[in-house]
Amino acid sequence: MKKIAVLPGDGIGAEIIAQAVRVLRTLEPQGLVLEMAEAPVGGTAYDLSGDPLPKATLDLARSADAILFGSVGGWQWDKLPREKRPEQAILGLRKELKLFANLRPAVIYPELAAASTLKAEVVSGMDVLIIRELTGDIYFGQPRGIRTNAAGEREGFDTMLYAESEIRRIARVGFESALKRNRRLCSVDKANVLETSQLWRDVVTEVAKDYPTVELSHMYVDNAAMQLLRNPRQFDVIVTGNMFGDILSDEASMLTGSIGMLPSASLDANGKGLYEPIHGSAPDIAGKDVANPLATILSAAMLLRYSLDQDAFARRIEGAVSAVLAKGLRTSDIAEKGEPVIGTRAMGDAVVAALAIPG
Ligand code: IPM
Ligand code: MG
Repeated sequence: MKKIAVLPGDGIGAEIIAQAVRVLRTLEPQGLVLEMAEAPVGGTAYDLSGDPLPKATLDLARSADAILFGSVGGWQWDKLPREKRPEQAILGLRKELKLFANLRPAVIYPELAAASTLKAEVVSGMDVLIIRELTGDIYFGQPRGIRTNAAGEREGFDTMLYAESEIRRIARVGFESALKRNRRLCSVDKANVLETSQLWRDVVTEVAKDYPTVELSHMYVDNAAMQLLRNPRQFDVIVTGNMFGDILSDEASMLTGSIGMLPSASLDANGKGLYEPIHGSAPDIAGKDVANPLATILSAAMLLRYSLDQDAFARRIEGAVSAVLAKGLRTSDIAEKGEPVIGTRAMGDAVVAALAIPG
């Protein structure tokens, strides 16, 4: 039996994870056999044990076939020393489990084209897969710190660093993904300024020789940020580093109507993965039953597809989400002005109901 570690985390995490778990449970009578075990993570875990990523939680994540993750963070933990902050839990899980490949698909549902802040004619038909390297770059490079310089002034510094092997393995994920899609890969860097990016570009270009049927292009990150808004349909697969991918994926989410719609998969070299919505813990709306659970429900679908090899069940969940949107059901983040809205739980109910009809 496959084991799923369920880590709800902070803020809206518990509410959205509860709906994704219900959705997975709904598939049990239809033959999906899963063992799910829950553990605290992030600020919630810090409050319980003084550690945002307790050993028991990390052990559970290690022993599981896949991890379903909610979100971490909140103002009440922002003043803690960095190593105790909730964000260290997700960064630690990514690093410890070697989850180097982060897949963030940004697809526009036709029903939501009008919910995007961009004109419907610009975003409709958009289907971009952002592949973000997740365990390197300025996020993890050493040295880093805040020090006092010779002039007695404090200065902060971080190290942007990529080893050739790290670039090569994420580039391969990019090319392999493009092969399964429309065979176009855009590598995003800042090679006009940064040495790290020059190496990135050189290595991606080398790897391209193994994939003659994929059309590779390179784009500077500032231009990519602009092109995503100008004409998002030009992109098929984007591959980029940790920092640029963090920023571009948030940007891409808004093209789809709401950050509340975007799932993600973070995979290791063997397909084990952590699945989480790309949005954060949204403490301002936590506990109010208003958060959109669809990004988390869609993350559960990605979990079934990538780590459990259950593509049919994944498609059932994605189909149920489409059906619910087609029926006009909206949480507040995806509603147009004046449209009636439903809450987190009711959105979960609707997906569960759509799944109960075997398809
Ligand atoms: C994300 C988040 C995280 C990141 C934070 C919570 C550390 O923004 O998953 O995109 O920067 O990677
Ligand atoms: Mg982010």
